[in-house]
Amino acid sequence: MNESNNKKRSPWVNWTLFAVTMAVVFFLGLLVSTITERRAEAIFAYKPKVELAEFEPRNEVWGKNYPWQYESYRKTQETDFRTPHGGNSMKDMLAESPEMVVMWAGYAFSRDYSQGRGHSYAVEDVWNSIRTGGPKAPDVGMPSTCWTCKSPDVPRMMNQMGVTEYYSSTWAALGHEHTNSIGCADCHNPETMDLTITRPALVEALALMGKDVTKATHQEMRSLVCAQCHVEYYFDKKRPGAEGANYLTFPWTNGFTPEDMLKYFDDLGFSDWTHTLSKAPMLKAQHPDYEVYMTGIHAERGVSCADCHMPYVSEGGLKYSNHHVTSPLKYISQACQTCHRESESTLLKNVYDRQNKVAEVRHKAEKILVQAHVEAKAAWDAGAADTEMKEILYDIRAGQWYWDYVAASHGGSFHSPLESARVMGKAIDHGQGARVKLARLLATKGITAEIAYPDISTKEKAQEYIGLPMEKLYQEKKEFLEEIIPVWKQKSKERQATYDIVKK
Ligand code: HEC
Ligand code: HEC
Ligand code: HEC
Ligand code: HEC
Repeated sequence: MNESNNKKRSPWVNWTLFAVTMAVVFFLGLLVSTITERRAEAIFAYKPKVELAEFEPRNEVWGKNYPWQYESYRKTQETDFRTPHGGNSMKDMLAESPEMVVMWAGYAFSRDYSQGRGHSYAVEDVWNSIRTGGPKAPDVGMPSTCWTCKSPDVPRMMNQMGVTEYYSSTWAALGHEHTNSIGCADCHNPETMDLTITRPALVEALALMGKDVTKATHQEMRSLVCAQCHVEYYFDKKRPGAEGANYLTFPWTNGFTPEDMLKYFDDLGFSDWTHTLSKAPMLKAQHPDYEVYMTGIHAERGVSCADCHMPYVSEGGLKYSNHHVTSPLKYISQACQTCHRESESTLLKNVYDRQNKVAEVRHKAEKILVQAHVEAKAAWDAGAADTEMKEILYDIRAGQWYWDYVAASHGGSFHSPLESARVMGKAIDHGQGARVKLARLLATKGITAEIAYPDISTKEKAQEYIGLPMEKLYQEKKEFLEEIIPVWKQKSKERQATYDIVKK
């Protein structure tokens, strides 16, 4: 640009330029002021509005201070999203795979087993499950330890009662004390909001492995908060100093692999129940999600549970962790595409491929294990001796343990597909091992024909086959929900009404 050019420009061009510049400046100013306002709103909202008591169990009270996290947490109430192997709505696993009814004969899981929903439903779902029965008196039914992974009332009650005492009561006796579903007080220190471990079983298990949880890195904590509940566990009734309590214990002393844990249980001579058909001393895997994840590539590369299940989101100039914990396939762009450049459809295919392949061998293992239980019963009926059955029953125990370790690890076939397939291979190996030995044993008793596979094409037929009185169980549950739950709710309401909420 030179001077002569400038001189030639007519005045109205200059005025227009001036006006346009002013307008741009004005709108820019407006934008900046909106952003600052939003920021100010955000900062204002972040300022604690209420004083949080040390063991405040109510999510809605924490929510007054942290509305973004609370509102996203509330989305765990949604039940609108299904994927082939996951999602946030309930799925009747026994209807999907009636083999499981026979595999769990003699154990409460044969009555009812659904795939989990969101954290908001933990308390309601454990009330409703046929597995918890219909205890009408406080001194019958399941142990109190069953509450441990359901509610932010747990740290409060453990502090009030003492940990061993907490594990020494019944589920029914402490029912009215646990009405808030999984939430803030399970994972956060109310004063600093730092991530914290509130469940002693995790601290104790890591200590036995020589790990000090207080030295965990921030990134490790983003998985360890989940490992308080999403793990394999059992109730130790013989813990020195806590005899008689159902002491929640993670069987990790030998390590995280299913072989390590099986050895742990074998050395203890522990079994969850005796199978009604095969009489094998069985183990029930719980949900070793953390252990299986630890063997996968994401854990190896330092990706935490929270990276996928609680990714950061930006809203109104504010960045926060999405507390809508569910299938990450619901928000792939936040959960996966921060690290992966592949398209949504490619990533979905990657997940489904891994899950479908593991499911394929899993269903094979289920058929084999049902056959092993049924053939073992035939051997007993033909007069087999304990000594003849010993090795066979161990094969059934080990095979079903390996199967369950994979089946019960929700998301495991994505978290660690190779390990899941390897362990399912061991389930099939032990199951078929039992069947080869059974065929030989049955032949010595003169039975050479194939033992018929029962008609267990539906959940109902399978439950009838193992002799479950389902009508009676449903009736007991109905009465429990009508008579007992309203009392628990009322007692809890009265108690919580006495809690102060101190405004800041
Ligand atoms: C206090 C115990 C506890 C903690 C801590 C916990 N969970 Fe859960 N989680 C549960 C229970 C119990 C359920 C099943 C709830 C139901 O079905 O009613 C569940 C369900 C889930 C589901 C299935 C929900 C859906 O919509 O598909 C996912 C995913 C999940 N948890 C992931 C996590 C992650 C990730 C963490 C850590 C950031 C975590 N959980 C921490 C106990 C816990
Ligand atoms: C299952 C465990 C878990 C539960 C339950 C939970 N949080 Fe969090 N929260 C996390 C994790 C993990 C982070 C990320 C922390 C980090 O990386 O520093 C987080 C972060 C936060 C932060 C820090 C800012 C942010 O968004 O990253 C706040 C505030 C917070 N949570 C509030 C809450 C509130 C309120 C509740 C209850 C409604 C709640 N949390 C329930 C695990 C949990
Ligand atoms: C924080 C980063 C991060 C996030 C978030 C993440 N990944 Fe990954 N992912 C990795 C890394 C690192 C690897 C290992 C690949 C490598 O090192 O070359 C990997 C590997 C994979 C693989 C190959 C694993 C195999 O079985 O061999 C798949 C599939 C995958 N990711 C899918 C996903 C999906 C789906 C999500 C979201 C639910 C996701 N990832 C979220 C970092 C991430
Ligand atoms: C790399 C991302 C990634 C990481 C890390 C990760 N998950 Fe997952 N998780 C997934 C995906 C993808 C699924 C499959 C969801 C589906 O099938 O809809 C899943 C499924 C699950 C499920 C079953 C959810 C359902 O809908 O039924 C649970 C529970 C779960 N994960 C818990 C965890 C826990 C606990 C950790 C850490 C120990 C963890 N996940 C680590 C991506 C991840």
